[in-house]
Amino acid sequence: MQGKITVPEIRARKGSGLPIVALTAYDYPFARLVDQVGVDVILVGDSLGMVVQGLDTTLPVTLEEIVYHSRMVARACRHALLVADLPFGSYQVSPRSAVANAARLLKEGGAEAVKLEGGIHMARTIRALAEVDIPVMGHIGLTPQSVHRMGGHKVQGRRPAEQERLLEDALAVEEAGAFAVVLEGIPRELAAEITAQLTIPTIGIGAGPDCDGQILVLHDVLGLTEGRSPKFAKRYAALRETVVAALQSYVNEVRGGLFPTDEHSFHTLVGVPRERAVGGAS
Ligand code: KIV
Repeated sequence: MQGKITVPEIRARKGSGLPIVALTAYDYPFARLVDQVGVDVILVGDSLGMVVQGLDTTLPVTLEEIVYHSRMVARACRHALLVADLPFGSYQVSPRSAVANAARLLKEGGAEAVKLEGGIHMARTIRALAEVDIPVMGHIGLTPQSVHRMGGHKVQGRRPAEQERLLEDALAVEEAGAFAVVLEGIPRELAAEITAQLTIPTIGIGAGPDCDGQILVLHDVLGLTEGRSPKFAKRYAALRETVVAALQSYVNEVRGGLFPTDEHSFHTLVGVPRERAVGGAS
């Protein structure tokens, strides 16, 4: 695996035939594993509200929380490009405050780019960020921060008028200076058309196979999510079941007197005066 992936390298993937592979991560140990397998982009997504904090929506996630998680993930990112989400309320007030908040993600969180949701109405903000060299990944379609307007986490762009609007959103995000755009929860035909029209890479989640890359939420991929995963998310492991079995064994062994055994116990040092033996861990 080569060194660190950069924003220009992700931008240059468009038309290269090599799909961008992206995943979310929220802490050091999982980010290390994600980084080790050669994932191109790690996103500290505000999905952490739902998969880590147990919330129903991403709306309550704060900038401080993204900074905190991003800092952990940054230590693990030796290869992947680190993108951090601007959470709800941190970029909608004004382009000026968006720049200040995004700068915190780079300065304090160690992120190399930020992601924000919205199309035409966010173009001014994307431009303001790009002008001060804060690379921006756009995000259109099913934008979870708009859950109340959408009436739930629903597929967008099934009707022709919505499709036109989403294409305009994608073009506006590109024109404003984003280096890539996430297409979430839209019909694969629409994602294919947007991908064909844009000169920046599209990264799909629930947007079919014709995007320039794919992103998924780590907990869905690993089978850590409680209940049913979204239709578009493929489970590549069943870690919930593995973890439950391991924890159940621990509970049973402690209750049954099978753990700890002598193998997991320390022993006094023979022949050493008591005060010198204290504190040793071998
Ligand atoms: O917050 C997130 O994890 C995301 C991805 C699903 C694209 O925005």
